[in-house]
Amino acid sequence: MADPAVNNNSTESNKVWTSFSFALGISAVGLLLFRRYFHGAKCKSLAQLSGKTVIVTGANTGIGKVTALDLARRNARVILACRDINKARKAADDIKKSTNSQNVVVKHLDLASFKSINQFCKDILETEPRLDILINNAGVSWIPQCTKTEDGLEMQVGVNHFGHFLLTNQLLPRLKKSSPSARIIIVSSSLHKKGKIDFGNFKSEKGYHQFEAYYDSKLANVLFGQELHRRLEAEEAGVSVYTLHPGVINTELNRHMMHPLLLRLFRPLFGLLVKTPTQGAQTTISCAVAGELEGLSGRYYGNCKEEPFPKVESGPDESVAKKLWEISERLTGLSKVD
Ligand SMILES: NC(=O)c1ccc[n+]([C@@H]2O[C@H](COP(=O)([O-])OP(=O)(O)OC[C@H]3O[C@@H](n4cnc5c(N)ncnc54)[C@H](OP(=O)(O)O)[C@@H]3O)[C@@H](O)[C@H]2O)c1
Repeated sequence: MADPAVNNNSTESNKVWTSFSFALGISAVGLLLFRRYFHGAKCKSLAQLSGKTVIVTGANTGIGKVTALDLARRNARVILACRDINKARKAADDIKKSTNSQNVVVKHLDLASFKSINQFCKDILETEPRLDILINNAGVSWIPQCTKTEDGLEMQVGVNHFGHFLLTNQLLPRLKKSSPSARIIIVSSSLHKKGKIDFGNFKSEKGYHQFEAYYDSKLANVLFGQELHRRLEAEEAGVSVYTLHPGVINTELNRHMMHPLLLRLFRPLFGLLVKTPTQGAQTTISCAVAGELEGLSGRYYGNCKEEPFPKVESGPDESVAKKLWEISERLTGLSKVD
């Protein structure tokens, strides 16, 4: 005859096991739904880019590299505009191997140096007969201590906004030659909604905060995109401007956030929850190639579709964008008036 104590124990352990399996199942389904939600949409366009030239800034890693790879696969001539030539050459080799394209070019561009940007643009204008798509992708974030660009600007706003401002304006003549289908893609972040533009603090005169500096630089990206769109539309330039949020992605962007050893532990866990670089690049690729975006310049995109501009906490308006443009012209030396 069975011992009732043993029976009770095994019923209890069955119950514990069933509850555990149930909880595990629910967690797995929850994680899958969470990942599905966060991993976002995929660019469905099959557009080919034969004969077209694209520049991608910061294309040696992260979503910039995946974007460059995708556009090379569509037969574009792709220029990787990067500050570290060795990393860029390695990325170009990877892209060439994966795509069989030989039309992948590396050029030096340090967005923390106006001299480097001017040299890069001079080179492009002299050597590239056309430019169809400019992707302002490069970015730095969360630098713990205040650092400055070669020209004395705070690094995050200096690279993310001012560098791209100078670059874009100097390349505009070439983009205009590819009208009416030329595109400028500005990779911002939904965190721009936390930003504010303090016109007296671009050189950190009033202090520095590692997170706020990033939010502010990403807001500057959005305001630049809106003002650029207004100006290009007014002159019927045939160049479209798309601003986007790529999602939350497991890239090297958080490299300044913690000690490299901690980061090595943190990354695989983070990677379980957020987008891979391939998933994170989809909205950029869609903005660069999707035919249905034609005529929709000046809009904001996320997950490969148009989204309303998030409500910015500091409530910027058109006049802030205009003033930012004028100050950017002066600080980058585009307009010499002081
Ligand atoms: N990852 C996210 O969750 C996330 C979310 C929202 C928005 N974004 C935006 O997405 C864009 C791409 O970021 P990512 O996530 O792919 O980051 P990433 O992996 O760190 O790539 C950033 C790229 O920018 C380049 N870069 C940095 N400073 C530069 C400079 N002074 N001159 C030229 N290139 C420079 C980097 O070059 P090095 O490798 O030489 O440093 C790298 O190629 C950024 O604009 C970022 O703000 C990312």
